[in-house]
Amino acid sequence: MKTTVYYFTGTGNSLWVSKGLAEQLSEKTGQSTDLCRGEAELIPIAEVMRSKNPVKCPKGAAGIVCPVYQGGIPLIVSEFIEKADLTLPDYIFIILTYGAYTASAEDLIYDQLKDAGRAPDYVNKIKMADNYLPIFTPPSGEKLDSLMKSAESELNIVAGDIAGRKKRIPESGIIADLVTKFMYGDLIRKGHVKDKKFHADENCNGCGTCAKVCPVENITIEDQKPVWHNNCEFCFACLHLCPKMAIQYKNSTKKKPRYKNPEINISDLMRKW
Ligand SMILES: Cc1cc2nc3c(=O)[nH]c(=O)nc-3n(C[C@H](O)[C@H](O)[C@H](O)COP(=O)(O)O)c2cc1C
Ligand code: SF4
Ligand code: SF4
Repeated sequence: MKTTVYYFTGTGNSLWVSKGLAEQLSEKTGQSTDLCRGEAELIPIAEVMRSKNPVKCPKGAAGIVCPVYQGGIPLIVSEFIEKADLTLPDYIFIILTYGAYTASAEDLIYDQLKDAGRAPDYVNKIKMADNYLPIFTPPSGEKLDSLMKSAESELNIVAGDIAGRKKRIPESGIIADLVTKFMYGDLIRKGHVKDKKFHADENCNGCGTCAKVCPVENITIEDQKPVWHNNCEFCFACLHLCPKMAIQYKNSTKKKPRYKNPEINISDLMRKW
């Protein structure tokens, strides 16, 4: 049985989860007859959304893996859900990666799929390093190792659930709904122009890495400096992956350590499209 994982990532956490799922869902085939494992394919949502072609998700299991943003999901993932034809998959799963608190992001994506005509069978989340640098300082050293270990345990459980075609429907409370309404409302209102608060400081050497890692081609290099074009997904990849730590968000990120998932190479985060 084929598994197709559609993913969106900025700093690699959601790619790490997607790769882990693909590995676990495609290995051990035949080990147990009641577990569905077979071929697995990873597809970047940003690449699919760039194309004008319709998206028809294939038969088998289909999943979406993405980060939580402001108690909701990246705008491009909502747009993907609207665009995708999800009638063929017989099992749909959603895995959200998050840092601190998901509010009712799980319910929100469940409802979006339901409104699109195909409610997911399984929705879950995996706690990872929080890459929202204006508020959080990402962990490093032993703290990061321990966070990655617990994320791996969560990933193993989730992969087992998916292989066993388990059902899980989210249920957040009223407070979580209110938090999402407030935080995600802000992301929707400001939309893709939230990049207005990014700038490159004097440490920028014009290397172009930020333009290459931007999943939605929102950055060009002009006169040896990045220029943002107001089509931002707010993933913070440009800021975290700049080798000179030259990209700042307002004045809140200067001197703060940057983050990239330790198991993911920067080359895996560079656009192939
Ligand atoms: C703009 C933005 C908003 C975020 N909002 C939340 C949030 O509301 N709750 C949370 O737990 N984590 C939040 N995070 C943290 C990410 O969800 C988390 O670090 C995620 O694993 C990053 O995934 P990625 O490495 O695949 O990009 C936010 C991150 C960003 C960049
Ligand atoms: S990655 Fe950093 S140093 Fe390189 S062009 Fe972008 S801002 Fe400048
Ligand atoms: S401009 Fe930066 S924050 Fe916005 S989508 Fe591109 S990489 Fe992500």
